[in-house]
Amino acid sequence: LIENIHAREIFDSRGNPTVEVDVILTDGVLGRAAVPSGASTGDREAVELRDGTERLQGKGVLKAVDNVNTAINEALHHLSPFNQAMIDGKMIELDGTNNKQRLGANAILGVSMAVARAAANSKHVPLYRYLGGIDLQLPQPFFNVINGGVHADSGIDVQEFLITPVKRTSFRDGVEKIANVYHTLKKNLAKQGFETAVGDEGGFAPKLANTEAAIEMLYQSIRDAGYQPGAEIAIAIDPASSEFYDDDSALYHFEDKDLTSAELLEYYTKLVAKYPAIVSIEDGFSEHDWAGFKKQTDTMGQNIQLVGDDIFVTNPAIFTEGIKAGVANAILIKLNQIGTVTETIETIKLARANGYKTMLSHRSGETVDSFIADFAVAMNVGQIKSGSIARGERVEKYNQFMRIEEELGD
Ligand code: PGA
Ligand code: ZN
Repeated sequence: LIENIHAREIFDSRGNPTVEVDVILTDGVLGRAAVPSGASTGDREAVELRDGTERLQGKGVLKAVDNVNTAINEALHHLSPFNQAMIDGKMIELDGTNNKQRLGANAILGVSMAVARAAANSKHVPLYRYLGGIDLQLPQPFFNVINGGVHADSGIDVQEFLITPVKRTSFRDGVEKIANVYHTLKKNLAKQGFETAVGDEGGFAPKLANTEAAIEMLYQSIRDAGYQPGAEIAIAIDPASSEFYDDDSALYHFEDKDLTSAELLEYYTKLVAKYPAIVSIEDGFSEHDWAGFKKQTDTMGQNIQLVGDDIFVTNPAIFTEGIKAGVANAILIKLNQIGTVTETIETIKLARANGYKTMLSHRSGETVDSFIADFAVAMNVGQIKSGSIARGERVEKYNQFMRIEEELGD
């Protein structure tokens, strides 16, 4: 049973405070988890409770920490950690709001994940096995190797340029191929006089002219590393377009132009025609432009994966509207957008039942907690993005997948 829950404020990969939770069971077992934090967040994400005081630019999380240590700790005292749905339900009820604004999604998620860990530890099984069914599978990984948007000052409007090893004999083999491309990309950037310092998610942040220049750079580096763009290493982008959408004018301020929704769709259509190695586009349209996203789904959705992130925010109710409206054909899954393990599982099941692909995701502000690696295998999500093969908090997830692969064998 749950004996005590203790939260503390720690720091994330961007130097911002975040919540870490320890759950201690009556058998003495500990489960610990830390909560990540986004920068290009969707409007309708569950609320990340910040103190808003002078301290740490208003970003302190002492209120959320206190909510764990008092209200949540009391409410969950001596309950079973093995009933995740019951635990998460109790916290949702205790919070009483529809977006977890009272206790904070950061408080609730920290406890939700730490309870799962404690339960797994108590049963002496790995987390992926505890949370998983019979079908345990490693996902296809997407590595964010060029950072733009609000994740870097590269000046590139598209937030993420990801590469994925479509042809691989194992997870590890895929990681090795990406490492080869990553180092080749670094050399190519340096040769052409670009900076090779990295952005928030460990990808390079060179001041390239535009999206096409970044994709050209990827094509060249994939080839120079000895692989075929498309057939062996494919490309995905996350424009995170809510960030450059103007609600008043309904225009996208993209690469020094103001584009209508229709013009942006034309841009994407030409882009994927010119670069067929692009297999996935996330948030090509704004969370406030459902019509634009729907149009893209109707015209491009047969040939390419279209992922909804900010537009669905891992929320089963909002996602249900999206399914009905025929928006996107895949969904990005982020635990802290909704705030509990149980609701996240609900959204994943909803996707599966309606033919949507799922891609599990880290946040741009991370810790070394690799919960999402175990969770991805347990849920057999199919795809994962966890940044580049640089920055410890990113690589730790990929390393955890390789440990799991070693344990699972063939
Ligand atoms: P975020 O970005 O973690 O900063 O929200 C990730 C994404 O947009 O996919
Ligand atoms: Zn996104």
